[in-house]
Formats: sequence, C-alpha cells, structure tokens
Amino acid sequence: MTSTLLSTSEYLIVRGGSTLTGEVEISGSKNASLPILIATLLSEERSTILDAPYLLDIKNTIELLENMGVEIKREGNRIEVNPERITNCRASDENVRRMRASVLAMGPLLVRCGEAIVAMPGGCSIGLRPIDQHLKFFQSAGVDVNVKHGYIYLERKEKKSVNFTFDIITVTGTENALMFLSSVNKESVLNNIALEPEVMDLIEVLRKMGADIEIEGRKAIIRGREDLSGFIHKVIPDRIEAGTFMVGAYLTGGDITLKNVIKDHLTSIIEALREAGAVVEEKSVNEIRVYGSGPIKPLNIETREYPGFPTDMQAQFMVLLSLADGVSVIKENIFENRFQHVMELKRMGADISVKGNTAIIKGVRNLTGAEVFSTDLRASAALVIAGLVAEGETTVRDIYHLDRGYENFDKKLAKLGASVQRLPSL
Ligand code: EPU
Repeated sequence: MTSTLLSTSEYLIVRGGSTLTGEVEISGSKNASLPILIATLLSEERSTILDAPYLLDIKNTIELLENMGVEIKREGNRIEVNPERITNCRASDENVRRMRASVLAMGPLLVRCGEAIVAMPGGCSIGLRPIDQHLKFFQSAGVDVNVKHGYIYLERKEKKSVNFTFDIITVTGTENALMFLSSVNKESVLNNIALEPEVMDLIEVLRKMGADIEIEGRKAIIRGREDLSGFIHKVIPDRIEAGTFMVGAYLTGGDITLKNVIKDHLTSIIEALREAGAVVEEKSVNEIRVYGSGPIKPLNIETREYPGFPTDMQAQFMVLLSLADGVSVIKENIFENRFQHVMELKRMGADISVKGNTAIIKGVRNLTGAEVFSTDLRASAALVIAGLVAEGETTVRDIYHLDRGYENFDKKLAKLGASVQRLPSL
C-alpha cells in the first residue's frame, strides 16, 4: 500500500457517530523498520527490507542514508539498500531535528567509518529524551565522545570486548549498542537491555548478518564479526498501529478483524482492553477480532517497558477511558511530559486532571467535536479516534505527526466505515 506523504499543513475532519467494522491490514512496524534500515550500513553488501511502511519517518531515514552516499531503491513497501560506498559519516542537524531516531546512525557509522558526527538531539514534545546512555555505552566500548557546537563527535580508539550495564532501559540505546557490538570480533555483554519486539526484530537481522547474539532475561551476549553480510528481512507488524485500531473498534462499539498481527506482541494491550470490557478473539495465528459495545469499564494503567503496557498506547487508552463508566487512573512512567493530549481532549469535553505523572480520568457521557492540535504522533492518532465518537465534527490539525508513524491511517479508517476527510490548509 502506498501513501501520500504530506506537507505539515494538512488537517483531518472527522465526523463522529460511525462504527468501525470490517477488516484492516496492519502495516510493518515503524520502530522496527528504522533501526533495521540503519543496520544496513554495517555491511558493504546489499540488503532488502520487506513490509517497511511508507511513512514520513521512513522517508527521512532513507534521506539520512542517501546523504551518506548509500544507494536506495524503494518500491512500495520493499526497500533495497546498496551501502557499498559511504561518502559522508555525518547525521546533520536537519536529519536529527526531523527525526530523533537518526541517533541510531552513531553505532553503524562508527563501524563503517571509525568515526561519526551526529547532531545532538534536543528535547521533544514528550520529554527531554537525553541520550546519555548511548554515549556512556560508546565510551565503555573504546570510543572517544566529544560534544561541541551542537554535534557529537565520536571516534573509535580500540576494538574491545565490553561488559556494559544500562542505568535505565532504553530502546534505541540498546539498538545502538547491539549494532555496534555485532561488528566486534569478540564476546561482549549488555545488561539491562530493552526487550521490545522491535529490538528483537533488529536482533533477528543482526543474526542474519552473521552476529551471534544470545538473550538471557535482560542480558545480551554478543559475539560479533567484522565481515557482516547483507540480509533480506520482512519486518514485524506494527503492534502500536494494531493497538490503535483495537481501541478504535471498542470505542466505537464496532467489530473489526485485524490482519497481519503477532498476538504475543499485544498481550498487555489485549489484557487492558478485556479488562475494559472488550471481546478480543484470536481468529488465526495472525488475525485478531475485537468487538464490544460497552459499557466501558474504568482502568488503572501504568506504562512500563515491554512486556508492560506501552507508553505509545497511553493517549489512545485515555480517549477510551474518557467515556468509561467510572474513574480511571493512568500513570506515565516512561516519558515525563507525555500528557499534552489532555488539554486537547478536555476541549472535546473529557474530564481529566493531571498531577505529576498521573492522570485521573472521570468518564463522561459523550465527547463533542472541536478543533484540536496534534502534539505528538500517538496523541495525533488518539485525537482522530476521539473524533470518531464525538458529537459533530472534529478538526485535527498538525497531522504531519500522524503521518510520521501511521501508514494510510485515514484511508484505513474510511475503509472501516469512518467519516474522515483530509484537507489542505488554506
Ligand atoms: N532515556 C535517558 N537516557 C538515554 C536514553 C533514554 O534518560 O540515554 C530515557 C528517556 O528520556 C525516556 C526513557 O529513558 O524517559 C525511555 O526512552 P527510550 O530510549 O527507550 O526511548 P527511545 O528509544 O527514544 C523508542 C521509540 C518510542 C517509544 C520509546 C519507549 C523508536 C524510534 N522510538 O524511543 O516511540 O515511545 O522507545 O518505548 O523506537 C513513537 O513511536 O511514537 C515513539 C515515541
């Protein structure tokens, strides 16, 4: 499926009152595709990625790699990468500003060039998001790290075996370290790693490239090699896109079947939905049916690292719980500022109060359409599904956030019966 990539100026008009019914095909995972695309740099051989969703973040990653001299051919969801020649070992300020995940280039660039220059990311709308753990790891691995004039200068001084423990669990930090160590011809250990399915998909790729990686709980034992090979890999389905449609189905009193899902990746989301009163059925190995017409039961949710409840589903569940029969509590433990959608939901009539990292949501009878602004990717999707059940019309602005991470979201919703219209700003 191809999508139209848009300018920042488009917006969506969502008319409330429709029920989501039918089948929806879930796209490949954004957060798995990004590190896998960047991992192609680890080898001089060609690689092919299948099922990569066509999104702004993927387009930006392709541009990041092309700026380094890598040749890329994309046809629909298939991306062929020829990283034989790297002419530039730098991720510019513009690359990093457009997409924070550009910091994932640090590890692979160090492997290919012995050095890397990567713009230091600033904070973003969901939190400060420091990368101290990435840098601490590189220092422990024999890399000189200097930050000046807004850039991180990294230079590899030695190739050594590493035994490193992350102070906190970080997804892209773990991915950077795994990519780097996969090219070190020695045995290394990483402790307190992230176990998100997207990290596991990257590990699958690194194994295909020739690295030997064992996982024991939150510990990774890596035996790398210098001559890593190219790979062909089909990325896992996007569990957050799936979760968003699952919430949409129950929220609207609908009945949808999701195709191309891995049920095991959705355990915490399924548990929360069932607790809220939804019916979730496994139709086949990779198909799930979600339906239910309420009443929506209140929940007590805390976001946690995988296999806990994902922070990337927090905003969507907040919409659901805004219409619950009682009071719910959501505690956000991953990002310190990921409640910006609360103000927008309040504009739609939700009754939510925030104290520190905890939101108290008192269920209301109905939401009403309003003009709302997307504050980040997941907030953007949450506002769209809120519009599906709100009385009247909801205008969701700044949907470039949505287009960073959801492939054809509005088209998929329309196919399920929603009234969603994309319009350019005047
Ligand atoms: N952190 C540090 N120091 C570090 C790294 C992280 O303090 O060096 C903190 C962060 O500030 C945050 C927590 O640790 O408070 C967890 O951050 P993590 O590094 O795990 O997040 P990330 O790798 O930057 C990825 C996803 C996010 C997702 C988080 C958490 C990608 C490209 N991004 O971010 O996805 O929310 O893990 O699961 O994989 C999204 O898709 O909308 C999105 C934001």
